[in-house]
Amino acid sequence: MKTEERRDFLIRSMQGIGFVMCTGTLASLLQSCEMNEDSLNPDITTFPFDIDLSKPEYSSLAVIGGAVYANNPDGNNGNDIIIIRLEQDRFLTVTSICTHQGCSVNLPSSDKPTLFCPCHFAEFSPLTGEVLVQPKLGTASTLPVFRNEFDKSGNKLTVYLPGNG
Ligand code: FES
Repeated sequence: MKTEERRDFLIRSMQGIGFVMCTGTLASLLQSCEMNEDSLNPDITTFPFDIDLSKPEYSSLAVIGGAVYANNPDGNNGNDIIIIRLEQDRFLTVTSICTHQGCSVNLPSSDKPTLFCPCHFAEFSPLTGEVLVQPKLGTASTLPVFRNEFDKSGNKLTVYLPGNG
């Protein structure tokens, strides 16, 4: 329930039962709603990483299915991300770090069209980052996917990375 809805609910409830409350008590009750709301919805900070797709290092992304590594030391703990062009206006952006034991995952290739981890042979979907093949020992989980926005007119991709820490 949103803060405003909870406020309205509390006010209606108190009116309905003829409850008379001093202003100070009501204020503290409403304030506690706001505090609860904050703790339920922590402010998740992400780091916007702007990528100019017209730069030569991103030329592979000019075609659908193209994939590259990219890096910004201020986000994703300085680890590479993988960008794959899924459609003309749609990209998958995931971490390159394998969720099994932290090796770097390979880009899709003609030999191996998945995101393949050479350490223990896990494979991840190049469409979603989901596990397609588990490692030889143990388990991996879906590669963290980062939200992105594509500015078609500027040929710019903004990837929202988790910060460092
Ligand atoms: S670290 Fe990737 S499969 Fe083990």
